[in-house]
Amino acid sequence: MAAEYDLKPAFVKMNAQVTQAIRDRLEWIGVDWISDEDKPEDGKEIRLLDYAAGTGVVSRALGPYVTHTLGVDISPGMVNKFNEHARKAGLDPSRIHAIEGDLCSDPPTVSFTEMPSTNFDIAVVCAGFHHFNDTELATKRLAERLKPGGVLLIMDFLTPSGEDGKVPDEVKHMVKVFGFDEPTMRRLFEGAGLVDFDLWIMPEKVVLEREKDGEMMRREITVFFAKGRKPAA
Ligand SMILES: C[S@@+](CC[C@H](N)C(=O)[O-])C[C@H]1O[C@@H](n2cnc3c(N)ncnc32)[C@H](O)[C@@H]1O
Repeated sequence: MAAEYDLKPAFVKMNAQVTQAIRDRLEWIGVDWISDEDKPEDGKEIRLLDYAAGTGVVSRALGPYVTHTLGVDISPGMVNKFNEHARKAGLDPSRIHAIEGDLCSDPPTVSFTEMPSTNFDIAVVCAGFHHFNDTELATKRLAERLKPGGVLLIMDFLTPSGEDGKVPDEVKHMVKVFGFDEPTMRRLFEGAGLVDFDLWIMPEKVVLEREKDGEMMRREITVFFAKGRKPAA
């Protein structure tokens, strides 16, 4: 999907909604973001891990507020698109770069990067968790990559009400979990040793479109942002 991810109208709309939601909630996320008062000579660094980064929607949303971004994605096509965007924007690979990797596999695989791949101020997984076979392992692996006091932020969709949470057959090849609820997310965060859990539901729904037998299927979903913090050392 890498080639069309930034072009399909439904994705464009969703990506804009997500970007706005993230930027509106910087304070709630609770990272000591880079601001206008910070001067480059002060040497302050804020490091973002954009996991399951795709083409870099979250990295672009948070770009003005961090100094370094490492994107990781299992798909080489997505990684190429991510890096293509960053280089087109004139950004240096020492500041923002994506690599292929899967932290959810056993053992985890992450291709070599000159950028440090631990001690992040924030790790974000946006619309990625429902693809993971083992969300418990994924949460733990992401928490391990945070520095003490660092924040894990997950955006995904709530299990649609009135449905049993079973993944529909037609999306089984890519969707492993058909949404989440607040107790599940809290359990995942707390199980990974994270504290200060909170979950916010985006009031505006997101519309997903998928072609099936030549017909466009639309589904409205409710998305949430869940956050937790690695305890300070
Ligand atoms: C729906 S896209 C979301 C991309 C991006 N985060 C965004 O918000 O636009 C899901 C991404 O998860 C990636 N992905 C799926 N399973 C993964 C895994 N185990 N490890 C890393 N990335 C994974 C896919 O390759 C895809 O780029």
